[in-house]
Formats: sequence, C-alpha cells, structure tokens
Amino acid sequence: MSIVRFTLNGAPVSCEVPADALLVDTIRSAFGLTGTKKGCGTGDCGACTVLIDGVPVRSCIYLTCMADGRDVVTIEGLGGPGRLTAVQQAFMDAGAVQCGYCIPGMIMVATAFLNRNPHPTREQARESVSGNLCRCTGYQKIVDAVMLAAARLGEEGR
Ligand code: FES
Repeated sequence: MSIVRFTLNGAPVSCEVPADALLVDTIRSAFGLTGTKKGCGTGDCGACTVLIDGVPVRSCIYLTCMADGRDVVTIEGLGGPGRLTAVQQAFMDAGAVQCGYCIPGMIMVATAFLNRNPHPTREQARESVSGNLCRCTGYQKIVDAVMLAAARLGEEGR
C-alpha cells in the first residue's frame, strides 16, 4: 500500500491504495465520483477519461500512484446542475446525449480539445472525439455539440 496525494477537482486529497490500483477505481470507490464511467477497462472506449494536468487520460489504464502530485479533474469538477460549463450545456442542447454512458468521457475530451483549439473546423471536432466510442448517437450530434460549444465560447470571448 502507498499513500498518494493529488488535487482532485480543485481540492487536495490523499488515499492509501495498493500499487496496482487503477485511477478509475480510486476515483469511483475512494472518492465516490461515479461520473467517471468504466466501460471496456482496456483503454479502448474512452468512457473513463479524466483530465490530468489538463490532458485527457484514460483512467482505466492509469495507476493511481502515477497521479501523485498531479491535478486530476473529473466530470464533477467541470460543472453541475445549475452551473453547467458551455460544453456540458451544448451536449444537452444539441441532443447529443442518449444513454449517456460515454458522455462524461466525451465532454472531458471535448473540453480539453476546445481549450487547445477554440476555433475548430467540423472535421477537427470530429477527430477530437474519434477515440471515444458511442453506441447510440451516431456521433453527428456529438460533433454538433462540440461545434455549438465552440461557437458559444467564441461569443463569450468577444
Ligand atoms: Fe477506460 Fe474504456 S473504460 S477506455
């Protein structure tokens, strides 16, 4: 067992975990943040995506001990009821959410993408979420949502 200290959604936290503990399990079990979903468990689907130091990471293939000293943000750290981020609101408004299981990971990826590229082309937006699997929506509305968020963020910046 080892003690790991990091920042989780803006607050300093610590936990004692086995060396092989996976970040997705620690986030969900030790901290009760179940917005981060566990899909494939093999790094393929993207449902478990969190931001580590601002970079999207698949937490199902990331050891908790590797988060020591880092800044971890989950979907709960972005916004919530009554205080949604532009990306979260855009996913709702564009009708991009069906079963919803993949959506936290999609939003984490889209958030990091728009931070890097606030004025994307539709093709770039499509590419940004191409590593995250969705079995319901057919992706069109997800890409619509990313573009809607980009447009709204652009208006806010004016
Ligand atoms: Fe981590 Fe699928 S659950 S990539």
